[in-house]
Amino acid sequence: MEKLVVTGPTPLKGEVTINGAKNAAVAILPATLLIDGSCTIENLPNISDVKISCQILESLGAKITWIDSHTITVDSTNISTTKAPLDLTSKFRASYYVIGAMLSRMGEVEVGMPGGCKLGARPIDQHIKGFEALGAEVEVAKGKIHAKADKLVGNSVYMDIVSVGATINVMLSAVLAEGTTIIDNAAKEPHIVDVANFLNTMGADIRGAGTDMIKINGVEKLAGGATYSVVPDQIEAGTFMLAAVATKGDLVLKNCITKHLESITAKILEVGGKVEDYGDSIRVYCDKRPKKASIKTLPYPGFPTDLQPQMGVVLSIADGTSTINESIWESRFQYTDELNKMGAKITAQGKSAFFEGVEKLYGAPVCSTDLRAGAALIIAGVAAEGVTEIYNLEHIDRGYEDIEGRFRAIGANIKRVVED
Ligand code: EPU
Repeated sequence: MEKLVVTGPTPLKGEVTINGAKNAAVAILPATLLIDGSCTIENLPNISDVKISCQILESLGAKITWIDSHTITVDSTNISTTKAPLDLTSKFRASYYVIGAMLSRMGEVEVGMPGGCKLGARPIDQHIKGFEALGAEVEVAKGKIHAKADKLVGNSVYMDIVSVGATINVMLSAVLAEGTTIIDNAAKEPHIVDVANFLNTMGADIRGAGTDMIKINGVEKLAGGATYSVVPDQIEAGTFMLAAVATKGDLVLKNCITKHLESITAKILEVGGKVEDYGDSIRVYCDKRPKKASIKTLPYPGFPTDLQPQMGVVLSIADGTSTINESIWESRFQYTDELNKMGAKITAQGKSAFFEGVEKLYGAPVCSTDLRAGAALIIAGVAAEGVTEIYNLEHIDRGYEDIEGRFRAIGANIKRVVED
């Protein structure tokens, strides 16, 4: 078993280069299944979710060549099966994108029920509603999803709930459909725009991505040959921004799109941090105890749920009592039990949590309950006095590349240790 051992407190200082976005990469990779030919994807984060996505593509017949640690070519000319391996697809959430892509490309697909972080109920009814609106038949049974369509025909799809996954999946299934598909109440996250930009580079006709109405005019074919670079990760950038505030540090983050960081910047300013925005890089620093704040997580452009635990660390040591209202995932406060082991005073009730700020956190053994909880515990460990041991690293490795190396480079005393 591996654990991270973090000794604090240390103010984090220096520069971090932000990687490509996990949640864009895990959608763009299945989207390559739509291409009759090969394409090159750059700025891929080197994380386990990307590696699993690649394995799934290969299992379907795509050829993947790693050019370097962040660049691959995918040749999807010969897709040889419509059955994606259940063990791989049920390991992570984004395997649901294989459904939209394979329905488009092959008219049929079978995948395992998507896995991923346990954040509460994670239904896929809106994905299915979209596929059915375009003419597919979808059956969910025995841990598998089987979808089939003799022909996909564009239609109007109103999302009952704003869903990143369903918006992208309906987009994937509509790209090669006959006629026009309109997605209303679409999600607007930067990775939605990125997937649409990728598909348009390959010859799709998608308009309005980034607004709540997306129009997809079906085309006959997508052609390969192009190179695409994945958008910088808004959540990774936000994680380091909040790490600077929690540790009273001073970080410059390179390769980010600061427009995507506005809600985070606003909250950092509110708690007393300082932010200097240079468009494609951002400096965040803080030299005093953070102030209290109220946070409500919302779909983009609201405050992202994927930064809620990291913000929770800042609020746990803020001056005064803060609240967080989580409106996306019902079980995203599991990390608060772990922070309480480090001396925080947090009471979580349903979708709300109350943070009675303490002056200091103290190192303790803790468990990463999901990906972003893991990132939050690393930040807490760097800010805390003493030694923090963080277990369940597989969650963190799913979404952050070389997390300990990158924290070490900005001053953290952190190491990965293998334990019997
Ligand atoms: N929902 C439904 N029905 C559906 C789909 C979603 O009721 O068919 C509900 C969910 O239960 C949730 C809300 O809608 O309450 C939003 O879910 P969404 O579909 O937007 O989430 P997702 O696509 O499953 C992605 C990210 C998550 C991120 C959410 C919200 C990927 C692979 N995952 O999940 O990322 O929290 O959007 O922004 O893109 C993470 O990176 O740590 C992570 C969990």
